[in-house]
Amino acid sequence: MELRSRKWFANPNNPEMTALYLERYLNYGITLEELRSGKPIIGIAQSGSDLSPCNRHHVELAKRVRDGIISQGGICFEFPTHPIQETGRRPTASLDRNLAYLGLVELLHGYPLDGVVLTIGCDKTTPAMLMAAASVNIPAIALSVGPMLNGWYEGKRAGSGTVIWAARKRLAAGEIDDEEFVQIAAASAPSVGYCNTMGTASTMNTLAEALGMQLPGSASIPASYRERGQISYKTGQRIVDLVLEDKKPSDIMTREAFENAIVVNSAIGGSTNAPIHLNAIAAHMGVALDNDDWQQIGHDIPLLCNVQPAGEYLSEDLHHAGGIPAVMSELLHAGVLPHPQAITVSGKTVAENYSGAVNTNRDVIFPYAEPMKAAAGFINLSGNLFDSAIMKTSVISEAFRERYLSNPDDPDAFEARAVVFDGPEDYHARIDDASLKIDESCVLIMRGAGPLGYPGAAEVVNMQPPGILIANGVNELPCMGDGRQSGTSGSPSILNASPEAAAMGGLALLETGDKIRIDLKQGRADVLLSDKILAQRKSDLSARGGYSSPESQTPWQEIYRQNVDQLDKGMVLKPAVKYQRIAQKDGGV
Ligand code: FES
Ligand code: MG
Repeated sequence: MELRSRKWFANPNNPEMTALYLERYLNYGITLEELRSGKPIIGIAQSGSDLSPCNRHHVELAKRVRDGIISQGGICFEFPTHPIQETGRRPTASLDRNLAYLGLVELLHGYPLDGVVLTIGCDKTTPAMLMAAASVNIPAIALSVGPMLNGWYEGKRAGSGTVIWAARKRLAAGEIDDEEFVQIAAASAPSVGYCNTMGTASTMNTLAEALGMQLPGSASIPASYRERGQISYKTGQRIVDLVLEDKKPSDIMTREAFENAIVVNSAIGGSTNAPIHLNAIAAHMGVALDNDDWQQIGHDIPLLCNVQPAGEYLSEDLHHAGGIPAVMSELLHAGVLPHPQAITVSGKTVAENYSGAVNTNRDVIFPYAEPMKAAAGFINLSGNLFDSAIMKTSVISEAFRERYLSNPDDPDAFEARAVVFDGPEDYHARIDDASLKIDESCVLIMRGAGPLGYPGAAEVVNMQPPGILIANGVNELPCMGDGRQSGTSGSPSILNASPEAAAMGGLALLETGDKIRIDLKQGRADVLLSDKILAQRKSDLSARGGYSSPESQTPWQEIYRQNVDQLDKGMVLKPAVKYQRIAQKDGGV
């Protein structure tokens, strides 16, 4: 097999370009002999930096990755990727998932790389890198930076994000002051690594393993454990073999692999952002996947992991209980993992990798026969308000069920009065406005928060009721919107509604006071208005210039809005999807 990098460094048809490509890489001490040796050249796509503290530890881990690459006969080229820090990037880090994707596609395509180690971790870094590996399709392996250690505050576990949502309520009630709020937040971040709850980061790192793109056991090892350095070394070794075996993402990320990942997502209590990201990776891989698949394959799978926000423990506990291998083993032995024969980057099948793994703590990983919760996946709703929106029905509380779903003739449906907010700023300004008459018969609607309306889509759909209702013991109202929800929050919301208001989806036509009917069994959400009235409202809105969104603040926001697809389609850049298997088509330099 002819290595791709030979087109740069040993191209007999173009000696001039070969010389030019060779000479500058020599200037830091690499020798001509090495570059001409025919050894695989392996990229380490470095996502860690001071700007991205969740992934910063990859700067250290890369040393062990290099050792592994060299020990197996490869040469390393480490290079930076566009940083994405979920907690640091304004206005929202999800804007940068597609920017990092675009940048990495160009790097993997344009430089002499035979294979690549994808250094994943914080939230959007994982989908961005898997999307790029899917598009270019050179041999690739992912390496998680690992979750932080457990956080502790006053003797209790303090989990990323989840502790913030709780502290925010205590701050609002005057039980703690600003300084204690900071102390609680800081306690939840005790070490290097990414969020220690089952938020979007832990979810996506787990799914990178479930897809077969990480070595078995790689997802759950805490960032600061010695095993993290050890698996970095093995990852470096393995990518060299993947190049020599010519195993590409298209051999791993098949439809079967995505189906396995959907099942695992339910079992871990995975984030509602997972369908967005997996649908995006699949789109770039050329694999058909949509939100109906998520319901059909994932809904009935039970929750096994007792990890915050769905449960009580954190990532470090999950690792000690056997980690993701133990979860996979439970699913394999129950016979519910649809494709045990799917091949992974280890060179072995899912069944070979995981069937021997042992669950050592059944309080942290529940056995499949006695799960924590039944049917922990998502349902996919549609109706006259949107074509697709997802809901995690397993987080519906007893109190919510009694209040809204207690009609014996119609136990899966409820009707509620819409209270409509245009974006998070409008919600914060008006939620306590008494003239809105918000009570327990209401559903809170958030629109203008989708990929176009709030570029990148804001994590704002899970809205708190007005203070006066909370004071009276009503802690949650049903919520619905065209934005997202943080993976670390656990409230029952109808999320990711597509098309969004800014694309003239049905939510744009709603008015406060409209009646909405939600039927969980039928999978429908409708406003109880005639088609005629809706058509009239649509033409009135069009005449006023359509649903208005704030102006873009940067060039990228404008380019993003011109090209982005809706949340149910993975929020991908539409023109990018047709560029598939780029490395197989490019024919060289
Ligand atoms: Fe980086 Fe949660 S903020 S993983
Ligand atoms: Mg998040």
